[in-house]
Amino acid sequence: MSIQLFVPSFRIDECLKGIRECLEKGWTGLGFKTVEFEEAWKSYSELPFAHFLNSNTVGLHLALHILKSRYHWADDDEVITTPLTFVSTNHAILYARLHPVFADIDEHLCLDPSSIESRITSRTRAVMFVGMGGNTGQYEKIVDLCRQRGLKLILDAAHMAGTRVGGKQVGPEPDAVVFSFQAVKNLPTADSGMICFKDQEDDQRARKLTWLGITKDTYARTAAQGAYKWMYDVEEVGFKYHGNSIMASMGLVQLKWLDPDNAYRRQLAEWYRNKLAGCQFVRVVPVSPGCESATHLFQVRVQRRDAVMLALNGHQIYPGVHYRDNTEYPMYSYASGSCPNAARASSEVISLPLHMNLTRSDVNMISDLLIRYAG
Ligand SMILES: Cc1ncc(COP(=O)(O)O)c(C=O)c1O
Repeated sequence: MSIQLFVPSFRIDECLKGIRECLEKGWTGLGFKTVEFEEAWKSYSELPFAHFLNSNTVGLHLALHILKSRYHWADDDEVITTPLTFVSTNHAILYARLHPVFADIDEHLCLDPSSIESRITSRTRAVMFVGMGGNTGQYEKIVDLCRQRGLKLILDAAHMAGTRVGGKQVGPEPDAVVFSFQAVKNLPTADSGMICFKDQEDDQRARKLTWLGITKDTYARTAAQGAYKWMYDVEEVGFKYHGNSIMASMGLVQLKWLDPDNAYRRQLAEWYRNKLAGCQFVRVVPVSPGCESATHLFQVRVQRRDAVMLALNGHQIYPGVHYRDNTEYPMYSYASGSCPNAARASSEVISLPLHMNLTRSDVNMISDLLIRYAG
């Protein structure tokens, strides 16, 4: 039997029950379960605002779009970002007609604060921080740096559902935190995400912009039951970015399992770490001190990475790579060579299989093979 990198665990009967409720009510869109999920996420995440979206990618765009207009940034103003991420992070900067400036990464594969500092110019407006694999890296230093230099901070928390730092949920400090509930994330739906702004004004604007700029959503108008329900205003050109009740009903079920699932992910990581300890050819990417990582990924670094991956494939083990240095892609190649640590990591990183169906003996077997081929 093959071992894949990710296998989402869906609590099928419970999910179907929630979906059935939507179908019976005749309400599958915005409102109803989306409102319930936003409330549940706020109480889980301890963040003051939460708005449910159809993906993390649209949330990253929305965060930059809203901050850009609120603070009157110009086109091509700069956002400092990481080259080692899924392209959504950086495409979102381009969608907002801003300019991605790449800074280098540290041993956690997250942005290095000293590299960020060296890239700040008079046109820098924001930093986009990615918590790689659920890890917080040097997040606290970056929060301080942004505060001192008057930069906005956006946290791409696609991997961070359930990450805690110093015992507290990650995320009250940034101007916007964006989670992903895409099909293989720690809280899997099919495709959805959540944006959590620090400011109520931004949250309010987001709610309008995610439904094309319309001021009141259908659910609120129907719930109001008043005359002139159809008489809504369209105040500005928005987007079709809101989430729907089918995804929200899955999210509500999956949320109940997030902490226990993450605890098992950390257990798997611990088993990997114990097995791989002392192998000089396999370097485990460290979790930063004080971080209780959601452990979306378990990443190691090896030489001859591509050959090692193929050898594991020969045993029907299919790890992943997170990520290729984005400056290798044509739209970001202007920054090629500017982040040597990211370039090196890009050729060395492997994400080992990590999901609820794995057992300790799977971890032992994968680790033994890895040690054999990495040497
Ligand atoms: C770091 C990172 N950012 C953003 C995204 C985009 O998330 P979504 O698929 O919900 O748009 C992903 C998804 O893989 C990701 O890994």
